[in-house]
Amino acid sequence: MTQSLTIRRPDDWHLHLRDGAMLEGILPETTRHFARAIIMPNLVPPVVTGAHAAAYRERILKAMPKGAAFTPLMTLYLTEDTDPEDLAQAAASGLISAVKLYPAGATTNSASGVRNFDRVRGVLEKMAEIGLPLCVHGEVTTADVDIFDREAVFIDTVLDPIRRATPGLRVVMEHITTKNGVDYASAGGEDLAATITTHHLVINRNHILVGGIKPHYYCLPVAKREEHRLALRAAATSGEGRFFLGTDSAPHVDDLKEHACGCAGCFTATNTMSVLAEVFEQEGALDRLEAFASLNGPAFYRMAPNDETITLTKGDPVAYPAKIYTGAGPVTVFDPGYPLHWRVD
Ligand code: DOR
Ligand code: ZN
Repeated sequence: MTQSLTIRRPDDWHLHLRDGAMLEGILPETTRHFARAIIMPNLVPPVVTGAHAAAYRERILKAMPKGAAFTPLMTLYLTEDTDPEDLAQAAASGLISAVKLYPAGATTNSASGVRNFDRVRGVLEKMAEIGLPLCVHGEVTTADVDIFDREAVFIDTVLDPIRRATPGLRVVMEHITTKNGVDYASAGGEDLAATITTHHLVINRNHILVGGIKPHYYCLPVAKREEHRLALRAAATSGEGRFFLGTDSAPHVDDLKEHACGCAGCFTATNTMSVLAEVFEQEGALDRLEAFASLNGPAFYRMAPNDETITLTKGDPVAYPAKIYTGAGPVTVFDPGYPLHWRVD
């Protein structure tokens, strides 16, 4: 049995770093293991221009722990007013690596997102022309669609029409949570990929709701039925290039999670690599962890994989903090519900 595994240093292709005291408190949790991350732009106010992205990048670099080697890959938050030229310039200068599409109202700080997709057609065409990936939060937001169906309905009624109308648009389906998402990503061409979070490989909707409501398992898109979790596990451990890690690690202070109207987000940055190693071992796929966490993402984003490596070693259960105490307040670390045996050396 494998007791030690060395892989290229991983990247996180979907991460929330927030700002201010929260940023400072949680950034080391990511830089400890990851070399790069796609940084979500859903701040208040959102990161909508190249100038905003440059300023946010500076704040991240300023908050970096001493000695950390980490590159934040910036994104712009797509609005109906996004200027295609500003976006193209930010891409050409290397400042941004992607653009994020939030349907208005889909999740945390998405109020400035897109309501009328016709109004972003010009921007999407520009992105197709320059090859800039669109990271998509794939959920419809209308009250008549059940929250557990919102991803599948989005794929059929929004994503597929957008892709047909914009040939060449490179799309990352972010944090897919359904077999529908896996199937759609699998059938797409080389311009389509999907990220999968750590927590969606571990929990299904029962984990949130059975035996009392568990606010720290609540995120968006919400975890679905077991059959969907199994489809995600099969996709993540398949080694297929179109599936890669985007943790969607999304810290909220405990007060706002354990609340009458609790925020969406699981905070997994601290123990993601240990959880993933456990999951891949359970699936007999440890040899494909590197593809998922370290190779497939850079290949899609047309970047080189990291030269450095990390080594995971199996042993006694790993101790990790239950909470990260930030200047903004405590943030609960994702609890997979079983002991983790793989530590990152
Ligand atoms: O659970 C989530 N939390 N899903 C999202 O899409 C946003 C994120 C956040 O920013 O808290
Ligand atoms: Zn997210």
